[in-house]
Amino acid sequence: MMQNTTITKFLAQHLQGEHAVALAAMLGDIIAACKQIAVAIDSGALVGNMGSLGSENIQGEVQKALDVITNDIFIECNQRSGYVAGMASEEMGNFIEIADKHKKNGQYLLLFDPLDGSSNVNVNISVGTIFSILKSPSKKPELADFLQPGSAQICAGYALYGTSTMLVLTTGNGVNGFTLDSESGEFYLTHPNMQLAEDTQEFAINMSNYRFWQAPVQRYIDECLQGDEGSRKKDFNMRWVASMVAEVHRILVRGGVFMYPSDNKSKSGKLRLMYEANPMSFIVEQAGGAATTGFQRILEVKPSGIHQRVPVMMGCKREVDRIIKYFQAK
Ligand code: AHG
Ligand code: MN
Ligand code: MN
Repeated sequence: MMQNTTITKFLAQHLQGEHAVALAAMLGDIIAACKQIAVAIDSGALVGNMGSLGSENIQGEVQKALDVITNDIFIECNQRSGYVAGMASEEMGNFIEIADKHKKNGQYLLLFDPLDGSSNVNVNISVGTIFSILKSPSKKPELADFLQPGSAQICAGYALYGTSTMLVLTTGNGVNGFTLDSESGEFYLTHPNMQLAEDTQEFAINMSNYRFWQAPVQRYIDECLQGDEGSRKKDFNMRWVASMVAEVHRILVRGGVFMYPSDNKSKSGKLRLMYEANPMSFIVEQAGGAATTGFQRILEVKPSGIHQRVPVMMGCKREVDRIIKYFQAK
């Protein structure tokens, strides 16, 4: 093995400040959860995990068996440390309060998408888990305590269950990526200090929604498609995995922009602010990129609900700045 820094060693060396002890404990539980989720996804059809349940989640989406299994794993693992006062997830209508079994006085809120890209589960394409940690204003959290802007996050990360299982995270001091060694069950630091390229020639958007987009988004994509014959004077490449985690990970590794804009069908886009857009925006900004709704930095959006949706355009800074300009010119 080339790498010898385990994630536990890395966190012990790098976590600093008032949240260090709590973050080490909470991240230890998140790591355990992601390992269990990797196993559940990996076993897939062998153990009958692949189907849809008859149920719908709060957003009217049909729940897959794995949506519910991964949600349960995340809750179970993360109530252990005693630091988590409450949790909210894509798969639960309301937040849950965590009983303080361990008498450590939970002081943090954990928001998560346990299985991102779940439409890809049945076709064996990458999926992920996204999480965000906030300081809880009270030890008995109420809804208003959760509704903090993304700039208040003290930690965010994602697990990517792809050709390798990876964990990528930030505590506001850069972005680091770890790869799971399935033999030892350890995550090792493989992607230290991830940095986004300044520029790109690659975009990711669901083109089938083209006719519903707002004019600035159509303009940006039109210009990319015109390639070296248009005003951009260079050819662009396109990707669409339909798993935000896979998309953002690709952008962190080789540059690009990822867009799920608002459109005439769904005024505020598809992605959820608190457990998709905010944690991913925190990571992208920490890697030197930018994330916008078109009108506002995503991390400054004041949330009005746990499941609120938001337009998302994130990635290489120059491209995002260009998109913002097109919105301003509208
Ligand atoms: P989830 O599976 O958690 O509901 O999220 C899926 C999201 C996101 O990961 C992805 O970018 C987008 O939905 C894909 O949307 P399309 O179905 O329009 O491709
Ligand atoms: Mn998702
Ligand atoms: Mn999900």
